[in-house]
Amino acid sequence: MGDEGHFGDYRAQTLAKHTILTKYLKPFYTIVNKSSSRNLVYIDGFAGRGSYNNPDGSTSDGSPLHALMTIAEMGDIAEKVSTVFIEKDPALFEQLKERVLAFHAKNPNIRRPQFANAGFSDVMAKVLARTDQLAPAFVFIDPCGVDGVDFSVVEGILQHPKAEVFLFFNIDGVRRVLGLDPTQRSVLARLLGGTERVTELAREVKSLRSAADRELAIINHYESLLRTHTNGKYVVSFRIEAENRRSVSHYLIHACQHPMGFSIMKDVMWTVGETDEGQGSLRLDQASITGVIPLFTPEKNAIDDEVTSHLQHGAKSVRFFLKELPMDPTNRLCRAAYREAILRLEERGKVVVQADGGTPKPAHERQKRKGKPTLGEAFFVRLK
Ligand SMILES: C[S@@+](CC[C@H](N)C(=O)[O-])C[C@H]1O[C@@H](n2cnc3c(N)ncnc32)[C@H](O)[C@@H]1O
Repeated sequence: MGDEGHFGDYRAQTLAKHTILTKYLKPFYTIVNKSSSRNLVYIDGFAGRGSYNNPDGSTSDGSPLHALMTIAEMGDIAEKVSTVFIEKDPALFEQLKERVLAFHAKNPNIRRPQFANAGFSDVMAKVLARTDQLAPAFVFIDPCGVDGVDFSVVEGILQHPKAEVFLFFNIDGVRRVLGLDPTQRSVLARLLGGTERVTELAREVKSLRSAADRELAIINHYESLLRTHTNGKYVVSFRIEAENRRSVSHYLIHACQHPMGFSIMKDVMWTVGETDEGQGSLRLDQASITGVIPLFTPEKNAIDDEVTSHLQHGAKSVRFFLKELPMDPTNRLCRAAYREAILRLEERGKVVVQADGGTPKPAHERQKRKGKPTLGEAFFVRLK
């Protein structure tokens, strides 16, 4: 059965998910279009009904319409993207089809969307079985719960070099099922790809005292399965806090084979993330946001410390911070985080920006973009 209740309110966390999705799709298709082929693919594996009815009577678009709007705006690329919408619930499926086809009628520059009224894993297993080389594909996997996402399918998608997944990971659900009797954990065996992996995780989680440690163990376990058992070595997770309590609700996980996609996705997530320290994070806090200007900014201080630690032995190029570090698969920081930190440190007089050859290039001598001094990649940064 589907989840009609999910579509009764368009929440901030849903907006955040859709914003990440649409902000990433444009660079993804632009990049893969350069090197590939006539055919690009978008798959919405848990498509829903295409819209949300808000309590105030207004409606908001669901992920299928957000993705289609983004694709329709992409000029020549729009006509290369095949879109596939999978929804298991028959009633939601009919509503989805009607909305998506109405959009297509008004936007004939996009390809005619395809539909499947079936389970995501079943559909994808069949697609993967008959496809040697999947065209560059972005696969959005957005279940409400923990059911329906087979690890073997995620692994199969990520075998294709230009296929990427963006996945809703219901950590609360995983924790709940782990607490159940082992005979009721089969749903997790599919999600993690085997009963031994579930047993191993259950053992680890049981030994941990705090909810924060248990959360970390679960997300690290899944990330590590992706890195070790699929070709998606580049994995980044975005944490969404619950709306009414200071604990995790779920994670949004992106996995791909390419450092560029990884780096861009981190930037996209970063701009959507918000904590009490302000905009810019791989977290969207909700319950714990006070809106008060914070006295302490530990997350930002840690990034500043990381930047200065790289400068202990001399100047480093801006390129090192904005290109090399963000593409390192073990690094959770992104270009935007490093850029903000360098500008913050420069403003506080801790670092100096200089041209190649050592001539200082202070902020007031550089061009401004969106009110901030630019940081050319050919420039260098050194401790003052
Ligand atoms: C969170 S909602 C999707 C929301 C949608 N992606 C959006 O952002 O607008 C999850 C949807 O997946 C459907 N669903 C549940 N299990 C499924 C499965 N195994 N395969 C495909 N769809 C499924 C539910 O009926 C529900 O409509």
